[in-house]
Amino acid sequence: MNILLIGSGGREHALAYALGKSPLCARLFTAPGNPGTARHGRNRPDLDVSDHAAVRAFCEAERIGLVVVGPEAPLVAGLVDDLTAAGIRAFGPTRAAARLEGSKGFTKELCAAHGIPTAGFARFDALEPALAHVRAQGAPIVVKADGLAAGKGVTVAETVEQAETALRALFADPGTAVVVEECLFGEEASFFALCDGTRAIPIGTAQDHKRVFDGDRGPNTGGMGAYSPAAIITPAIERAVMDTIIAPTLAGMRALGTPFTGILYAGLMLTAEGPKLIEYNTRFGDPEAQVLMPRLSSDLVPALLSACDGDLTGTGLEFDAHRAALTVVMAAAGYPGAVVRGSVIRGLDEAAADGALVFQAGTRADGDTLLADGGRVLAVTALGDSVKEAQARAYAAVARIDWPEGFCRRDIGHRAVAREEAGG
Ligand code: AMP
Ligand code: GLY
Repeated sequence: MNILLIGSGGREHALAYALGKSPLCARLFTAPGNPGTARHGRNRPDLDVSDHAAVRAFCEAERIGLVVVGPEAPLVAGLVDDLTAAGIRAFGPTRAAARLEGSKGFTKELCAAHGIPTAGFARFDALEPALAHVRAQGAPIVVKADGLAAGKGVTVAETVEQAETALRALFADPGTAVVVEECLFGEEASFFALCDGTRAIPIGTAQDHKRVFDGDRGPNTGGMGAYSPAAIITPAIERAVMDTIIAPTLAGMRALGTPFTGILYAGLMLTAEGPKLIEYNTRFGDPEAQVLMPRLSSDLVPALLSACDGDLTGTGLEFDAHRAALTVVMAAAGYPGAVVRGSVIRGLDEAAADGALVFQAGTRADGDTLLADGGRVLAVTALGDSVKEAQARAYAAVARIDWPEGFCRRDIGHRAVAREEAGG
């Protein structure tokens, strides 16, 4: 069958790599795509993915049997609803189900209604009551914009003054809603489940590194590197996550008449009282897809089709349980602030010589020359028998990339490596 993948990031390059390998995939198109996805199929930068009628017409003309939506924005815009209504199979949640990512307030209310463990919260539409609330609660306390903010709308305030500053900044935008949360303590991990509206199967764990600098310092980013699996999620914790978080979420969404189909990505805090939900995303993570897809040992396409068709019974995605994957994001100097575009990147083939996978994100081809064209530019992934081995291979590959204008964290995987070295 022909497949259309929507998106242009490193996640989409990793998905194109996995989809393109499937014996079921005849032709793969990526809209808009990047020079990395072009290695696995044809890019369609001319297709405006916000024009749902145009996407539908493209699917009909190219006889697309499956559309896979990578990023959150087209999900929240209802692309899956419009394609499904036209009889086109599209993988990902409907607009109503994507509220699990698009609205923190919605998710918090669902958690409250179904006893799903999460941080205590209150939602505010106006500054004064929000200020009164943080003064009454004290610090540390967490302030979040209620809406898609790409991780940038969150302040973990160490003091009441910091929380007040964050509230004033958020409410400076008219029409803002804000969620104020209890601060959770523990280690964070990402948990991915493939969902068909009724059932969910766990498909892997990872740990992201959100801060821009080594030692988890500096501003939050989209993610500077990741590894999988996250060994801190033991089989017992996995069961607890499935039973206390994922299953009641699916039941709650069904009860609302908005069943969830697609990838449910739970951002977890592993607290002393057990795993708690920090937030949901309704898609694969970026850069988590760049470590999940290389570990996949079964065909991705039949699993996505079964989820779209509402019946995952008997379907499984298999991951190489004995292999760890680690990815290092290379970003343009200045990221997550303003970056200079257009610097030349060399050495990708040399980096891949020892089996590393170089996924492209913000890149642009100018003839045979590859140019940086965004904040996060490359994700360099390697596999190993341990996180430590994957880490050594990934950094060896990074060293072969000739891009003086780029930078990366040097400590991706530090928690897992420390645990491995401690023997646990
Ligand atoms: P979010 O965009 O909700 O994932 O939040 C971004 C980051 O803020 C998370 O990855 C956590 O590191 C942190 N965070 C969010 N909510 C909380 C909370 N309730 N307690 C502690 N840290 C949090
Ligand atoms: N890596 C975080 C995200 O995809 O949202």
